[in-house]
Amino acid sequence: MSSQNTYILAIESSCDDTAAAVMLNGKILSNIVASQKIHEDYGGVVPELASRAHQQNIVPVVDQALKKASIDKSQLSAIAFTRGPGLMGSLLVGTSFAKSLAYGLKIPLIDVNHMQAHILAHFIEEADFKKPPFPFLAMTISGGHTQIVKVNSHFDMEVIGETIDDAVGEAFDKSGKILGLGYPAGPEIDRRAALGNPKAFQFTKPKVDGLNFSFSGLKTAILYFVQKQVKANPNFIEENLNDICASIQYTIIGILMDKLKLASKQTGITHIAIGGGVSANSGIREALKSGEQKFGWTTYIPKFEYTTDNAAMIAIVGYLKYLEGNYADQSVMASARLKL
Ligand code: KG4
Ligand code: ZN
Repeated sequence: MSSQNTYILAIESSCDDTAAAVMLNGKILSNIVASQKIHEDYGGVVPELASRAHQQNIVPVVDQALKKASIDKSQLSAIAFTRGPGLMGSLLVGTSFAKSLAYGLKIPLIDVNHMQAHILAHFIEEADFKKPPFPFLAMTISGGHTQIVKVNSHFDMEVIGETIDDAVGEAFDKSGKILGLGYPAGPEIDRRAALGNPKAFQFTKPKVDGLNFSFSGLKTAILYFVQKQVKANPNFIEENLNDICASIQYTIIGILMDKLKLASKQTGITHIAIGGGVSANSGIREALKSGEQKFGWTTYIPKFEYTTDNAAMIAIVGYLKYLEGNYADQSVMASARLKL
């Protein structure tokens, strides 16, 4: 093995996906995700069940990642793990596992900020995917966060706008719950939106100054709208589901795009990336792409498997920190509210 070969094993356990990935010099060799189905019955993530499922999944998931990459753990250069933000019980499983493995193998341990990882996923070596130049704007849209970030360098990031209440993923999931869809509802709303009329129903966009977002009012507006319609026609949801989904998605995309346009105008930055689970949404991907023609943007849309929670994005941050010799020590603690 050449001494230039850097193998990173990365572990992600911040929420309800147990994930492990192996990276060689910035390229992904394996990217394994075990999604926890148990939460579907509860309509949302149950933290205690999540940490228990992580405990069951972590050894087989790491094993599979090493096998798929065809390497032995003795070849690893470092272990990277998600330190936060996330659910404390879930983070603790990945953190303790990573710490023990790095200690046992006597190799560096690297702590990773999950939100930084959603952004730096754009730096994974991938054919046909270009990396954004600095500075660029990144909009991170997930089940837990909604932020617009000015990225000055790999590790110099400024949050210039964020949600003051619900995250955009929550807006999708809570709207889905009102409509009787399973959890998480984002992917199904996306699927149905493609079959419906986005202008069938109008929902007013929240008025929030500057670059901040608000989504809790939208959820309430959807709830009252649906309740009123169902009173008049008990079959309203079934008869209009695709149109309702299309209209909700259209409204959410409008909110996101308005703020992105403003952020680009205020900063003068036209290189624009998205990341996080909601960046899997086909509507937002299309809307962002159309910004190339409409506003002269250069846009960066992650490969589908790097949108929802995964360990490949943790691996790239681990690799970039490894190159800088930026390691954690064994006293590092999981941090549920870790900031960017
Ligand atoms: O990044 P992620 O996997 O976990 C967090 O860090 O939160 O994001 C999960 C969120 C969920 O709210 C889910 O409904 C949403 O991403 N999501 C989508 C789509 N795929 C996942 N929302 C809209 N359209 C999708 N295709
Ligand atoms: Zn995430």
